[in-house]
Amino acid sequence: MTEPITFDGRVAVVTGAGGGLGRGYALELARRGARVVVNDLGGAVDGSGASRQAADVVVEEIEAAGGEAVANYDSVSNRDGGAAIIRTAVDAFGTVDIVINNAGILRDKSFAKMTLDEVDAVLDVHLKGAFYVSHPAFKVMKEKGYGRFVHTSSASGIFGNFGQANYGAAKAGLVGLSNVLAIEGEKHGIKSNAIAPTAKTRMTEELLGPFAEMFGPDQVTPMVVYLCSEANDYTHQVFSVGGGRYARVFIGTNNGWFAGQGKVPSVEELADNMESVRDISEYEIPMNINDELMMLTQLAGG
Ligand code: NAI
Repeated sequence: MTEPITFDGRVAVVTGAGGGLGRGYALELARRGARVVVNDLGGAVDGSGASRQAADVVVEEIEAAGGEAVANYDSVSNRDGGAAIIRTAVDAFGTVDIVINNAGILRDKSFAKMTLDEVDAVLDVHLKGAFYVSHPAFKVMKEKGYGRFVHTSSASGIFGNFGQANYGAAKAGLVGLSNVLAIEGEKHGIKSNAIAPTAKTRMTEELLGPFAEMFGPDQVTPMVVYLCSEANDYTHQVFSVGGGRYARVFIGTNNGWFAGQGKVPSVEELADNMESVRDISEYEIPMNINDELMMLTQLAGG
């Protein structure tokens, strides 16, 4: 059995922690000894409006339970906001060890009806927001030789979902950000992972319909808390978490069909081999671009 996982001396930033999944992460991290920045803009699901109440209530809950936390009300969706969130951690608690990029909004519409403003709004919060918060945090972590990132992706981006072109693209983008931070952070003790959660929150109550009750937000918390911990040795991973299921999502590739070194097949020749191109009875999971290049080198007999 793993030793009790604690966060004494650690400082965590949880974006969008004023409700839903983020609130649960903030409460559990604080309960286990972390000092927590509870960031939340306090707006509606579509990102409109703002209120300090969301973050304040969670800070009060943490303090009432004997924990330490500070509220931050900045939006993750602009450079100044991201910088201010990390500055709040450094000013209040002296450092930042953990960043959970969790803040999110929805502007769902089928692609033909989606406006480009709806694309910008969603990319700004989910994808660029994660850059704005992670960029200043990464510098602090690199300096101290320790850090943990958890990025909130989604099955909507990894697998696809009707009406969520903006959201799906942002969420798939977060896997890319996480993978590169994992590679660049490796020699600095920084680990970066992504989760694709499913949970009943105000964001998903309607989407999940009759299945909503199967997905408690507190069932997502153990995975996120584990990934944030010193005990976690995994990095560069994506985990699907919801309804009591904890699973790995991976991006793999097969040997495919090798036309031959330097050979340019005809379109018809390629068409004839599409079954082999698609055959995934055997595959590898490259952990960087060189791993994939090695596969070609081996096929070419090098
Ligand atoms: P939620 O709506 O309860 O929580 C999102 C929080 O982010 C809210 O408290 C909101 O005020 C805050 N927020 C929104 N824009 C912000 C901004 N610009 N700056 C700071 N805070 C901001 O929804 P939920 O479900 O807890 O979502 C958490 C994350 O999990 C989101 O990134 C969401 O996309 C993701 N997710 C959730 C799923 C689910 O089944 N609940 C499924 C897949 C992904």
